[in-house]
Amino acid sequence: MTTNIAEIPVRKICCIGAGYVGGPTCSVLALNCPDIQVTVVDRNELRINQWNSENLPIYEPGLEEIVKQCRGKNLFFSTDMAPALKEADLIFISVNTPTKTFGLGKGRAADLKFVESCARLIAEVCDRSKIVVEKSTVPVRSAASIVNVLKANTKPGVSYQVLSNPEFLAEGTAVNDLKNPDRVLIGGEESEEGKKAISALSWVYRHWVSADKIIEMNTWSSELSKLAANAFLAQRISSINAISAVCEATGADVSEVAQAIGLDSRLGPKFLQASVGWGGSCFQKDILNLVYISESLNLTSVAAYWQQVIDMNEYQKSRFGERIVQSMFNTITDKRIAILGFAFKKNTGDTRESPAIHVAKHLLEEGAFLHIYDPKVEKAQILLDLDQLDEESGISIHTDPYEAAKGTHALVVCTEWDQFIVNTYDYQRMYDSMLKPAFVFDGRKILNHSALTKIGFHVETIGKRHGQSFQDHNWAGTNGI
Ligand code: NAD
Ligand code: UGA
Repeated sequence: MTTNIAEIPVRKICCIGAGYVGGPTCSVLALNCPDIQVTVVDRNELRINQWNSENLPIYEPGLEEIVKQCRGKNLFFSTDMAPALKEADLIFISVNTPTKTFGLGKGRAADLKFVESCARLIAEVCDRSKIVVEKSTVPVRSAASIVNVLKANTKPGVSYQVLSNPEFLAEGTAVNDLKNPDRVLIGGEESEEGKKAISALSWVYRHWVSADKIIEMNTWSSELSKLAANAFLAQRISSINAISAVCEATGADVSEVAQAIGLDSRLGPKFLQASVGWGGSCFQKDILNLVYISESLNLTSVAAYWQQVIDMNEYQKSRFGERIVQSMFNTITDKRIAILGFAFKKNTGDTRESPAIHVAKHLLEEGAFLHIYDPKVEKAQILLDLDQLDEESGISIHTDPYEAAKGTHALVVCTEWDQFIVNTYDYQRMYDSMLKPAFVFDGRKILNHSALTKIGFHVETIGKRHGQSFQDHNWAGTNGI
């Protein structure tokens, strides 16, 4: 472990927000910094009770073990915010920053009301100087607003340094991402005080992250880098999904195209998996935020460029739903369809902006009865996402995939859970229990399609035409090729 090079010693940390970021981040921090006491506070009592129980509020591989190891030693979860804030040397703001649902910037701008209320509470209760770290994803120059709120309400003799330290973890791999980050960004003021604060936070990370991965920069670059990184990641998926539509129309196979593209060392193989569409709580809201900022700055071409990444995702989700209906003889009214996977990606129970919601709603509108199975998503959450109070309106939620498949016309894979692959599930058993012809729609390209076809399934997947042959390619002639 390194020595404390900063002049502000960090012995106690408080994190406001015990969500998908605050919980795992502080757990990994506590694990790696036994000399620091970490208290995660939240106003949501249920969430805090869950963090203090056997059933954590979120599922992340490896997280439970860390919480069990550190909780009660140097990791605490509490709703009692004022004492934890008062005691802390450094405060992380890790609250949600959703898209505004009303007023100026409705549907696009980030709603910073939770961040602002944190700044007000800090100023109200703290009676000594502290470092305040913006960990939530925020629009560029948000740190200036936090500084303003703090300054306007600060007690005499107290001062604050506000840093930007965006989080890059992905759900499902959060623990590993936090233990081995590609980089840690720390943005701060260029003043002496700013530099001391950056050093103090850097010292915390140096407990487990090598110095070359800790990048210091100006606050606005740090804030913008977070939005830009998410926009670039989503853009790559939208790009391969756009190509998947061309593949389906021509007979090319998007997996082969992705492999060919990814072998170019300038592009690399990651984030080229064509899918039913990307989901999750952040890509959409962060790109919408970038679009809004660009428009506000009169950069209309920039705004239109990034908007297209979202539009392509909407197109992809709708296209998949429409393909299911078309393949099943243009009607799914009164047909039973099993949806395998409801989370927005594997290894998480999170359904925020999950493409499965879009697909399920599309199928319900077309009159289908849905039988939904996900290994980690709670029944109540699925019903909430589908605007249902109970299971009466054409929806049944199952805890067993074979029960979900029984008596249905089709299986629709919406999440890439490892357990869905052919070697793990007995698809012959599913097929035998289904109505014929039995369809599989693989929205994640994870199944063994030739094995399923051998069983007797009619298989449709993203970015590949069913039963393609050279005779299918009549379009080429019409284009003079
Ligand atoms: P979340 O909704 O899971 O958790 C936020 C928590 O903050 C909630 O428990 C809420 O009760 C609490 N909260 C809100 N206002 C509060 C207040 N004034 N006082 C006390 N508690 C308050 O959100 P999240 O997914 O953890 O995301 C948090 C931030 O991190 C967002 O800005 C998000 O964009 C960003 N981010 C998220 C991820 C991710 O994978 N989820 C990854 C990187 C960055
Ligand atoms: C994403 C980023 O990867 C994180 O770096 C970032 O910190 C986080 O957003 C955030 O700011 O919230 P996350 O949304 O948790 O993380 O998960 P991803 O792995 O990025 O997947 C997002 C969506 O894209 C999922 O629906 C996933 O299934 C889909 N996806 C991903 C594809 O369709 N194809 C791919 O090749 C990769």
